[in-house]
Amino acid sequence: MAQTKKKKIIGLSCGRVNGNCEILLKEALMAAEELGVQSEIIRAMELRVKPCKGCEACTIALGRGKEPRCAITDDDVPWILDKILVEDCALIVSAPVYHLRANSYFEAIHERMLPTMFRHPEITEKRRVGGIICVGGGEPEWTPLGLTSINIFVQHTRKLVDQMQVNFVPRPGAVLMEGKYLKRAGQLGQNVAKALMMPMEKVKYVGDETEASCPVCHCNVLKVPGNLSEVYCPVCWVRGTIYADENKLKVKWDEDDIQNPRFSTKFIGKHLDLVIELHKKFFTEDQDKVKELIKKYIAYGKIIKP
Ligand SMILES: Cc1cc2nc3c(=O)[nH]c(=O)nc-3n(C[C@H](O)[C@H](O)[C@H](O)COP(=O)(O)O)c2cc1C
Repeated sequence: MAQTKKKKIIGLSCGRVNGNCEILLKEALMAAEELGVQSEIIRAMELRVKPCKGCEACTIALGRGKEPRCAITDDDVPWILDKILVEDCALIVSAPVYHLRANSYFEAIHERMLPTMFRHPEITEKRRVGGIICVGGGEPEWTPLGLTSINIFVQHTRKLVDQMQVNFVPRPGAVLMEGKYLKRAGQLGQNVAKALMMPMEKVKYVGDETEASCPVCHCNVLKVPGNLSEVYCPVCWVRGTIYADENKLKVKWDEDDIQNPRFSTKFIGKHLDLVIELHKKFFTEDQDKVKELIKKYIAYGKIIKP
């Protein structure tokens, strides 16, 4: 009898090998496997991860109608991105905080995603699900942008099912002394596994929320670009209005923005069209002028090195 292929969760661990991020990720995946899914783990710290050099080879190729590829070819990031962005799987990202937001291993992978996104625009349709684990060694005051920074990545391709922030685990293995976090990670893994087996229309976010949480990424960081009472979620660019309901302040979120947040296919498509247009203009009209104008900046300055 033909075997049906098991659905898969890929876990990306950006902390130390056998560290707290990895332990929590494994706890989540072991619990998910109890529900009949399979799993794979990518350890970022064990692989070659280089940061984006800003060469723009990918955007220039796009502007010229060619296939966008990253110019860095001697590391593992393109492979990681193909696995976690393109493959038919759920994704759980587990990353530590080193300074209020997710660490640079995570961010280096995150910032290299453009060429993969350009080649596979269909992944922004968010037909797959995801979860996030964020780990900090100290008090909650020192992890305020952890989940938010990881959401910037995950929101491009996944409908978020659950996310958790862990604090007070300074040394590798410290999380093993925190039964409540291990339990919560198992719950998160099972929530992602259950969502993986549901039709997408039925998938709902089941993680923690506060009264001011964005209805898309469920983070509670608000940006105030102009005057109050207008606020935005800085990740999803969903607009909200603060209003008083009797003695309580609340946020009313814009329904159109909820349907078309920043990382929706429509919003990203608009942005990509603009990027292509700006690059074309640069190559056809501005390049010669810039070559002239930049001379005095190239000539100026005492550049210092160690
Ligand atoms: C350089 C450095 C800076 C850190 N800064 C923070 C911080 O700002 N806030 C925090 O909560 N934890 C901070 N930590 C603690 C780590 O988040 C914590 O040790 C975590 O468990 C690491 O995950 P891992 O065990 O999976 O590697 C820092 C750790 C390092 C190495």
